[in-house]
Amino acid sequence: MLFRNAYIENAKELADLRVENGRFAAIAPSLAPQPGEEVIDLGGKLVLPPFIESHVHLDTCLTAGDPVWNMSGTLFEGIECWSKRKDKLSRQDVRERVQRCVRLYAANGVQFIRTHVDVTDPKLTAMRALIELREELRDVMEIQIVAFPQEGILSYPNGKQLMIDAVNMGADAVGAIPHFEFTREYSVESLNFALELAAKHDKLVDVHCDEIDDEASRGLETVAARALELGLYDKVTASHTTAMHSYNNAYVLRLMRLLKMSRINFVANPLVNTHLQGRMDTYPKRRGVTRVKELTAEGINVSFGHDDIFDPWYPMGNGSLRDVVFVGLNVCQMMGYEDIMNSYRFISTNAAKTLHLCDRYGIAAGRPANFIVLDAQNYYDALNKNAPVLRSVRAGRTIAETKPAQTEIRF
Ligand code: FE2
Repeated sequence: MLFRNAYIENAKELADLRVENGRFAAIAPSLAPQPGEEVIDLGGKLVLPPFIESHVHLDTCLTAGDPVWNMSGTLFEGIECWSKRKDKLSRQDVRERVQRCVRLYAANGVQFIRTHVDVTDPKLTAMRALIELREELRDVMEIQIVAFPQEGILSYPNGKQLMIDAVNMGADAVGAIPHFEFTREYSVESLNFALELAAKHDKLVDVHCDEIDDEASRGLETVAARALELGLYDKVTASHTTAMHSYNNAYVLRLMRLLKMSRINFVANPLVNTHLQGRMDTYPKRRGVTRVKELTAEGINVSFGHDDIFDPWYPMGNGSLRDVVFVGLNVCQMMGYEDIMNSYRFISTNAAKTLHLCDRYGIAAGRPANFIVLDAQNYYDALNKNAPVLRSVRAGRTIAETKPAQTEIRF
């Protein structure tokens, strides 16, 4: 199969993509069709590797307003709302919502999702449902599951054993939530436990790390030190790290050396964290997003996630990662021309590093023929015009298609 006339990743010249047996066979300008080969003209549109959701909570998605709305929009009222909704959690409930959410993502060019799943539940209901769905949806969406201890590992009854059970059930990654543990000592011990568990079972790590405005929340240095000492390096990700926003610069300068040595990844969630952080501030009010610009300038890998899709903590979300990038660039003051043009990397190649997809990802001969087509010629225009994803191709098969809306101006 031959896909013709694409601007691949902002290239200035058009190129064609040949797909054979679900993989890219050749990528070059003006490839001649072979006898009997199916040809699809992409009409001079932008082709990118598929979008990647590197941080979301699928187990809570699509529950906003059920049974009550979060009227203040705060994290704490979100927790109250969720405790009322949690009573209704069942295998069928989780399956139905996650399937709907995955279809929303698919319509918007997402083909890989890392989801955190709450394991502070003695029955592990959501974890069981997600593990089933990970297998069932494998052909259309690759789902990575993080065992996420929402209420702590040391601070929740039987927390360590629930983490071990989740790993034995098949979680792909180990999580932690050091800033939520009862004490600083529990915080450090929870991270030691989580990273050692991951090292023992050869799992990835993704920690909800310092998602708080407290500048004294310093889980990040422990995550980075253990990633280095255990040799886990880029298998480890620190999500949120919003306290880093509030650290003093002298401390950050010292910390940055360790972060580079550790090679860990970062995930920022600009929508949810601008919404939830800074709630105790009067004015000036903190932006609540980690130091994306500075981390990126130091060569440290950062991706962006949505975090919550229409749930008690974030009342918006339609499966599009476009707004995540758009708000992220604004909040992080990364609106230079090259910053904008290359910003798709926050939800594609950078996220692929976070998910450790390695050579299973990217537009290159020999790799799986996964790509998306946007209604624009480059990503600057795609972002600015909110261009739809016209086509999502997975292993050479089109799994979602969108017809662009047409507007008629009558003056
Ligand atoms: Fe999160």
